[in-house]
Amino acid sequence: MPDVRIHESVSPAAHRAGMLAALEAGRVDNRFHYVGERSAGMWRALASSHSPAQAEDGLAAYDAAARAAIARLPEGPVHVIGVACGDGVKERRLLGALASAGRADVQATAVDVSVPLVTAAARAMNTVPGIGEADAVAVDIMTVRDLAPVLGARRSGARLVTLFGVLSTLGSGSMAPALSLLGPGDVLMLSANLLPGTPGARDHVMAQYDNAPTREWLTAVLDDIGLAGAGDIAMRWHDAPDALAIVGEVTPAEPLMADVEGVAVAMPAGQPIRVLESFRHDPPGLESLMMDAGLRDVVACISPDGEEGVAVGVA
Ligand SMILES: C[S@@+](CC[C@H](N)C(=O)[O-])C[C@H]1O[C@@H](n2cnc3c(N)ncnc32)[C@H](O)[C@@H]1O
Repeated sequence: MPDVRIHESVSPAAHRAGMLAALEAGRVDNRFHYVGERSAGMWRALASSHSPAQAEDGLAAYDAAARAAIARLPEGPVHVIGVACGDGVKERRLLGALASAGRADVQATAVDVSVPLVTAAARAMNTVPGIGEADAVAVDIMTVRDLAPVLGARRSGARLVTLFGVLSTLGSGSMAPALSLLGPGDVLMLSANLLPGTPGARDHVMAQYDNAPTREWLTAVLDDIGLAGAGDIAMRWHDAPDALAIVGEVTPAEPLMADVEGVAVAMPAGQPIRVLESFRHDPPGLESLMMDAGLRDVVACISPDGEEGVAVGVA
């Protein structure tokens, strides 16, 4: 069993307070999508079958970015810190690339709000030969903006911090916690879901969300708070002036009562509950996020199908 530290930001009381606030705002935020064992397991299955990041083209972008990151790292020990790393599939591949590149002194830490996922991530990282024992921290990065004290004293060598697959759901505000871990010479890898400029791209991307396994997963999330009977989840594109997103909403036909660990919350009929929000970026926007954050030597690796981008930069 890996060493998993649970920060107070993911305590049952914090979870309950966050869920109550979100429901009052008519939302079930992304941080609640993975906290239960069942919903975390369903997401893992869904990601491996439907995520473009785990398809051949997506992997090509992550592999190119891994090479760029390794080229930017100084010699010596490396501490890989996967922020909001989910089950750590991408960090495990990155650790494999580091090992293949002959980096012998590598340690890893998994960071995520979900205890089941962060535990799975540390286990996955531990399967990479030549990597020191991985540990894990369960923490809400949108509440605890400065992760440096949570991670504790710096280990020797450089940090390689990853922030994969969360810009789309948590927004650019998720960068601050990852940036808080960087010192001079450390490297950040940041990935984003992109919308290719090709005809039919919107339909193609929508099909990754508007499908039975995604609905089943989100319905399980609703079920955990007694809202599975709220109705069908409607998916649509949302064109905001500064952001393009896919949103999924369920609109109860009858008034419903959610149950958040014993606290009842009235959900009125006819008022949409947003259960999914996934923003799209473009390659220049991804690079700008890195440069605006003060990173240098930035490169963005784009998948051949144009759906996934992984930027790398040095602090
Ligand atoms: C779409 S998944 C991406 C996981 C992984 N990085 C990947 O690319 O496969 C989003 C991840 O962000 C985590 N997450 C969501 N909100 C979070 C928060 N407030 N603090 C920390 N992690 C969060 C979720 O638990 C989940 O693992």
